[in-house]
Amino acid sequence: MKLFLDTANKELIKQWIPTGVIDGVTTNPSLLALESGNIKSILLDICNMVNGDVSIEVVEKTPEGVYQQAKEISSLAKNVVVKIPFAQEYLPVISKLTKENIKINVTLIFSLTQALLVSKLGVKYISPFIGRWDDIDVNGMNLIEDLVIMKQNYGFKSEILAASIRNVIHLQDSILAGADVATIPPTLLDKVFKHPLTLQGIEKFDSDWKKLGKIKLFD
Ligand code: G3P
Repeated sequence: MKLFLDTANKELIKQWIPTGVIDGVTTNPSLLALESGNIKSILLDICNMVNGDVSIEVVEKTPEGVYQQAKEISSLAKNVVVKIPFAQEYLPVISKLTKENIKINVTLIFSLTQALLVSKLGVKYISPFIGRWDDIDVNGMNLIEDLVIMKQNYGFKSEILAASIRNVIHLQDSILAGADVATIPPTLLDKVFKHPLTLQGIEKFDSDWKKLGKIKLFD
């Protein structure tokens, strides 16, 4: 399973890359709006920092505008994936781009049938949103489970990228459901490392060891 960081913050990405567990980054207009500075140079820096796919979302609205912007985004770096929101008018654009071997991540997927349509077009990633379903009191995890079954039934190649992950349970359930990728906010990764029982355990090992009064493990 691949783990992506869901952020456009260079400092946070720099902080987590050395752990060796980050396989890519996803950004979106809302995440970019939190950053200050030149957007193109932020995105180029992120692409250089990460040894894996970096999703960058189009902000144009017309199909022709989306097509042109997708080409521009994909030319930024080799590891760029163009993120395009799901919409009927963009399907011909997505179809054309995939035929041109441009890697696409279709975002804002909220149903199995939406996912089926874009799987048929051969996109690299499909991004079902979990948390936003939960926001309206529907269990978002069901969608991930359904997509995994669809992929197994028909042998689609598109990777299921679990997005809008808000808590450790979402992440754990995505792992168990068999999502190909989970994109997670850095704050969540921080929680995984700061598990209270792991921290307590480290402290206990340390204090017990100190009681022995030894400095080295082997004399
Ligand atoms: O990558 C997009 C997605 O993860 C957004 O999450 O928390 O804004 O629903 P959220």
